[in-house]
Amino acid sequence: MAKPSAVLFVCLGNICRSPLAEAAFRREAARIGLEVAVDSAGTGDWHVGEPPDSRAIAVARANGIDIADYRGRQVTPADFERFDHIVALDGANLARLRALRPAGARAALSLLLDHVPGREGEPVADPYYGADEGFDTTWADVTAGTRALARRIAGPE
Ligand code: 4NP
Repeated sequence: MAKPSAVLFVCLGNICRSPLAEAAFRREAARIGLEVAVDSAGTGDWHVGEPPDSRAIAVARANGIDIADYRGRQVTPADFERFDHIVALDGANLARLRALRPAGARAALSLLLDHVPGREGEPVADPYYGADEGFDTTWADVTAGTRALARRIAGPE
């Protein structure tokens, strides 16, 4: 079977959690030599066309990654054919994706932290309305989740 080759990360606004997941996954995929297309999107449309939240840009920069050029977009029905994996950052967005998924679409849906042994079912909490420190927690969560996901997609050595 051909290996999956495209992964989409989805949160609510596509300006905090999913851009950080995209950035962390891109770096991990490059590190382990995994060839994969990566994108992120939101289930909501409030921030379409906008750059990530300044606090998300800052935490990515503090970890050596520039995400200032990322732009928000909303999930579309075509995404369910384009992507092999659509990975939700929390349960509410996973439920929304299940409702949006066209019958028979190819994308497999999952929750990011379901890929981390011992953290199944946990959300990556929304840091938008909280203090700046919340973005450090988000970064730690998306780093753990995307490492495990990249390893799973790469498969056995
Ligand atoms: P995100 O955070 O889903 O991690 O991008 C949010 C960003 C914006 C809003 C909610 C969550 N909002 O309601 O505008």
